[in-house]
Amino acid sequence: MVGDVVGSGGRRTVKKVLPKLRHDLGLDFVVLQGENLAGGFGLTTDTVYEMVEAGANIITSGNHVWDKKDAVRKLDDPNFPVLRPLNYPAENPGRGANADGPVAVVNLIGRVWVGEFDSPFAAIDDLLAGGWGRSKPIVVDLHAEATSEKVAMGWHLDGRVAALVGTHTHVATADCRVLPGGTAYVTDLGMVGGTESVIGMHTEEALARFLTGVGHRFRPVETGPMRFNSVMIETDDSTGRAVSIERVDREVML
Ligand SMILES: [Fe+2]
Ligand SMILES: [Fe+2]
Repeated sequence: MVGDVVGSGGRRTVKKVLPKLRHDLGLDFVVLQGENLAGGFGLTTDTVYEMVEAGANIITSGNHVWDKKDAVRKLDDPNFPVLRPLNYPAENPGRGANADGPVAVVNLIGRVWVGEFDSPFAAIDDLLAGGWGRSKPIVVDLHAEATSEKVAMGWHLDGRVAALVGTHTHVATADCRVLPGGTAYVTDLGMVGGTESVIGMHTEEALARFLTGVGHRFRPVETGPMRFNSVMIETDDSTGRAVSIERVDREVML
């Protein structure tokens, strides 16, 4: 599972790193967090298929999924490999869960400091109560700001899914573990974006916003050292639970 890929620098880094990782680590299935694929804000059809070509099987998203109309228009197409968080009100286009492939994938969004959504806890409970994805390993991306909300969801889902990973902060956390019930957990995957940046964006504009209190347009870092943050999860086919989770982090120069 690959952290938020930020802009063209992030996409070029994925193309440099992911095909080799898929081969060297013998990966069966890749979930990539794509809410920042296009210029740092939202995604487009072209950027989605660029990531599929690089080895992503399915793309999860978050609060930025609505930023570019091009992809929003495609969200209802069952063949478009993009999920939007399940617990956005149902009036919105798209789907938040997919069990068509060998791995069942769920996308949730948190409520603490992110927005007024339906409860992610109730949404996943409703989904799992119907036996959804039961024959497959289920992996969940909780796109959320607060570490506490993600830790709590880990315990809530322990023993019921193969993995619960966090995204959205763009800062990788060092707490990979398999919880006692067999659910792989990490608070945040991190990102694929510029190392010399503020969560993938040029430092000047990001700093200016903090120093002056006035919003400046953010631009993703596209050259220089780039960070690739991800985790590799191994599951047991007979139980659908996790055997291991470990960080797979790389740095490349663009
Ligand atoms: Fe993000
Ligand atoms: Fe986000």
